[in-house]
Amino acid sequence: MEDSQSNNAWKFMVMVSVVLICALDMGSAQIRYSVPEEMEQGAVIGNIAEDLGLNIATLSGRKGRLVTDYTERYLEVDLENGLLLANGRIDRDKLCGPITTCVLSFQIVFENSPEMYRGEVEILDVNDNSPSFPESVILLQMGEFIAPGSSFPLESALDPDMGTNAVSVYNISPNEHFGLIVETTEDGTKIVELLLKKPLDRELQSSFQLMLTAIDGGSPPRSGTARILITVLDSNDNAPAFDSKVYKVSLIENSPRGTLVVSVHATDPDEGSNAEVTYSFSNRVSTKIQELFSLDPRTGEIRVLGIIDYEGASSYSLDVQAQDNGLPAIAGHSKVLIKVIDVNDNAPEIKVTVVSRMVPEDAAPGTVTALVNVNDRDSGKNGQAHCEIPNNIPFKLETSSSGHFKMITSDMLDRETTPLYNIVILAGDSGSPPLSTNKTIQITVSDINDNAPRFARPIDTVYVMENNGPGASIFAVTAFDPDQGQNSYVTYSFIDNLIQDLPLSNYLNLNSMNGTIYGLRSFDYERVKNFQIQVQARDAGVPPLSSSATLNVIILDQNDNAPVIASPSAQSGSAGVEVVPQSAGQGYLVTKIIATDADSGQNARLLYQVLESTDPSLFTMGLNSGEIRTARGILEQDSTTQSLVILVKDNGQPRLSSTATIHFSILGNVTEIFSERSNLVTNPEYASDINLYLIIILGSTSFIFLVTIILLIGIKCKQDRNSPEHYNSPGMCYGLDGSNNAFNQGPTLKESLNYTGAGEIIRIPDTHHYSVCLSPESAKSDFLFLKPYTPPMTQGQC
Ligand SMILES: *[C@@H]1O[C@H](CO)[C@@H](O)[C@H](O)[C@H]1NC(C)=O
Ligand SMILES: *[C@@H]1O[C@H](CO)[C@@H](O)[C@H](O)[C@H]1NC(C)=O
Repeated sequence: MEDSQSNNAWKFMVMVSVVLICALDMGSAQIRYSVPEEMEQGAVIGNIAEDLGLNIATLSGRKGRLVTDYTERYLEVDLENGLLLANGRIDRDKLCGPITTCVLSFQIVFENSPEMYRGEVEILDVNDNSPSFPESVILLQMGEFIAPGSSFPLESALDPDMGTNAVSVYNISPNEHFGLIVETTEDGTKIVELLLKKPLDRELQSSFQLMLTAIDGGSPPRSGTARILITVLDSNDNAPAFDSKVYKVSLIENSPRGTLVVSVHATDPDEGSNAEVTYSFSNRVSTKIQELFSLDPRTGEIRVLGIIDYEGASSYSLDVQAQDNGLPAIAGHSKVLIKVIDVNDNAPEIKVTVVSRMVPEDAAPGTVTALVNVNDRDSGKNGQAHCEIPNNIPFKLETSSSGHFKMITSDMLDRETTPLYNIVILAGDSGSPPLSTNKTIQITVSDINDNAPRFARPIDTVYVMENNGPGASIFAVTAFDPDQGQNSYVTYSFIDNLIQDLPLSNYLNLNSMNGTIYGLRSFDYERVKNFQIQVQARDAGVPPLSSSATLNVIILDQNDNAPVIASPSAQSGSAGVEVVPQSAGQGYLVTKIIATDADSGQNARLLYQVLESTDPSLFTMGLNSGEIRTARGILEQDSTTQSLVILVKDNGQPRLSSTATIHFSILGNVTEIFSERSNLVTNPEYASDINLYLIIILGSTSFIFLVTIILLIGIKCKQDRNSPEHYNSPGMCYGLDGSNNAFNQGPTLKESLNYTGAGEIIRIPDTHHYSVCLSPESAKSDFLFLKPYTPPMTQGQC
């Protein structure tokens, strides 16, 4: 509808212009039309016949033709009605281009006539073209680094129309980054450029789509558009950024190789290789740490590579960087803080500094033998170490400061009991499970001369047969010293140098090396029956220690003495005369043979026998008593002188004997006998002899009795002494030793205490000295106790 209306308008305009031209060119043979371009085919340009004054018949009869210079037939004449028609669209812009006045000239010629008419059709420009761009899409690429103010030439829009119908204005869709610069050249065309007003940031906006519009000055204006697509090219203007400025992680120590510690991640807003991130440790991370951790350059995974030891380092700080692949590359940084969690993987360590491997056995308790240092490399409970000596030995640990101990002796040492200690020191921590270590140190106890040599038998009895061969060994003492080396090297010596006031060296010799005792002389039992010697054993320590042993040497009797007949006194084998009264009846004691034997025991046991007799029926002999008695009454016819040969023999081996001859005279006068008897009794020599023997016999008997009593009391007293009450009760002691001692008979008493009769020994331990002890109880009971008595030089207390 619009189109047809506009066509009508155009026709009207054409008509007007033709009329005007016709009026102007009436006089010439030339006609001129002005028509707007872009007429439709068949549109009437003008009536040639009319305008040239030709009638239609003439025109067609003379075969008129329209001739143009153009190959293309723009114009046509309708011979029927003489109308000039447009043969198709005439595009002025195509026909004439930029030529301002566009004229199509034509001629009308006839076949049979030289007549010719000229005409022109001016094609008038019509705003029939919109401005158009060469490309409907203009692609631009811009680096984001381009500075504002930079301009980019654009291809101008084309508008074939002329004059005001040509492009006059360019527009661009509103945006904050881009504007246009339009310049008009001399020939009136316009050059357009794109202006960058604001810096680009690909990361904010990576592309722009703008509409460029070119508008012509026609009326109504026509416009053409082109799309401008701007791609912002990335420049590596962004560093990769880590998700976190600091990554804090914990890691259990001894985590196996390959354990993931943390994944770091960085993003780069750039594009392409500018955004390709590669992770690495920064140069500040030492190679040592890089041996412990690996960082995957692509994934950013940090994994365990080496052995994570809390004791080596409890935390790590790794500087990591993420670098893009831009040119130049830019790196972003972050920090990874790794806290290592302790695991009880270290047993305590024991360090021992031995002060002395040898401790003398007399070291006072508290002597420092070693310094012990216990250290656990773990931390917290895992590192809390305690230390002890588990065995029950005289060593202990004393804390001096945390983790430091002194190993001291806790008791007295005795090398003789334990010469060597293997001391185990045990240390444990409080982790779970707890770990422990132990260490053994060897401490040797060095010897101190603290033991005196000890005799196997501190009191011993040695029996030596009399008449021993000089130089023969009679005994050997042995003492043992449990100490070591010199301290145990024992030598022997005699303590007293006298045996009953005679030099000991005359009798005995002692091998000082091995304690063998040699007799130098024969002993004579009849002279010395026993004696005591004290032997000392002494070690070679400094100072030396010694102890002594008491040897009771008892000489054994040999039957080396024959009986001696003492009474009746016999001079040189012949005996005295015994008087027998005539009236003596049977059993009358005529006399008693008294004989002695210096030997003892069986060797001194005497037997009496009648060897020869003048009248064997008259006298009998007491075999043991030596009494000679009458066997019957004396008869008248008996001879007044009688004699007997008496044999006295002992019971030794071999028996020794003596003989004596006794003469008897039988007298009738009794008074004479008595006077003789009294004479005999008053004879002081005879009496003293008899008395002496009686006293000896009585004394011996009483003495044996007394000794028996004393021994019984002694045993009782010893039992009492062992009871504790005795020590609590104050007692009074009377020494039986020294000058006040009524019992002290010198050596004889001592012998008698030990020695009762023939060959029978009663051993009394420790000492021969006794004290009578009067305790309060004993005072009540009036009982005397005898107990061992310590000589006053040491202590007089029971
Ligand atoms: C001491 O340690 C060893 C091994 O190191 C062990 O066999 C022994 O049983 C430990 N001794 C004690 C008393 O713990
Ligand atoms: C003691 O030494 C002497 C001399 O060397 C030796 O004859 C004797 O047999 C030794 N006695 C002992 C008990 O060894």
